[in-house]
Amino acid sequence: MGKVPPPAHRFFVTGATGFVGRAVIHALRAEGHVVRCLVRRGSERDLRGLEAIERVEGDVLVRRGLENGMAGCDALVHLVGIIREHPTTGATFDRVHVEGTKNVLDAAVAAGVRRVLHMSALGTRADARSRYHQTKWAAEEAVRASSLPWTIFRPSVMYGRGDGFVSLLAGMVRRLPIVPVIGDGRQRVQPVPVEQVAEAFARALALPATVKQIYEVAGPEAVTMVELLDLIRAALGKRRVLRVHVPIGLVRPVARLLHRVPSFPVTPDQLLMLEEHSTCDPTAFFRTFGLTPVPLAAGLARMFA
Ligand SMILES: NC(=O)c1ccc[n+]([C@@H]2O[C@H](COP(=O)([O-])OP(=O)(O)OC[C@H]3O[C@@H](n4cnc5c(N)ncnc54)[C@H](OP(=O)(O)O)[C@@H]3O)[C@@H](O)[C@H]2O)c1
Repeated sequence: MGKVPPPAHRFFVTGATGFVGRAVIHALRAEGHVVRCLVRRGSERDLRGLEAIERVEGDVLVRRGLENGMAGCDALVHLVGIIREHPTTGATFDRVHVEGTKNVLDAAVAAGVRRVLHMSALGTRADARSRYHQTKWAAEEAVRASSLPWTIFRPSVMYGRGDGFVSLLAGMVRRLPIVPVIGDGRQRVQPVPVEQVAEAFARALALPATVKQIYEVAGPEAVTMVELLDLIRAALGKRRVLRVHVPIGLVRPVARLLHRVPSFPVTPDQLLMLEEHSTCDPTAFFRTFGLTPVPLAAGLARMFA
């Protein structure tokens, strides 16, 4: 007799229109689950091509309506997060990460949702230096205080088509004669394919041992920024990349001045996080979710294929 598939569940996904959200939708659907997405007005186009998903209009900053939207859902996947504040539109770290998380948790409890899978970030801790990590910590605290059985994921940088980090570096490697590197370029990151993180979200519900657990998530290799640039160069089939190192002391004041300009690539908060490194031991993550680590060179080759 064939293996009986686990029962399908209905997932409510916030942040569904984002880079990670789209991967999570694919992974949930591939496991046979029903997906209902929270979509802000104007963002519908980001879900084009993703058929057979339910859509509910709403905003995590507007508590009203969230509860109705979640009615009948078994689990909440809360992905909403911002890396750059836009105070003029009310999109501050405090509001989006903390208030937004409390809103969706309250609504989930009221709607009878029975499980929450929460997206945090590596480096999140009580005494974090960056506002991004401080508010991610406050959001985690709200999740841990909730009456819902929770699981928290804290990834390093995730990569894949449509990401904001590796694609930015790849764009510079492709187009610029000389690629700027912040500081000495020895800051370490541990990129993980977004599909693997999404897969873990999709498998978590069937794994009771993941309740009340925090998973630090990363790929198998910690690399410096210079090494990452070189791996991207190789994946793109370029012979060499010329670099210019820009002292962080020079970048910081410029970032302070220009970080509200959307096309300026880095904010003061991101500089703080870059200086801290973003690495961890992901053994528990891969073991728990039955995933095989993908070597970075192979993952990048697939991304740019
Ligand atoms: N990307 C990484 O490498 C990385 C690493 C560690 C942790 N994370 C975390 O992973 C999560 C997803 O990141 P991502 O890279 O997918 O970001 P993203 O592409 O910028 O997507 C963010 C998502 O949040 C939604 N959103 C923002 N404000 C909202 C609001 N007020 N109400 C409802 N939805 C709102 C966006 O909707 P719209 O389409 O309407 O803007 C979008 O769907 C975030 O929590 C992030 O902190 C990401």
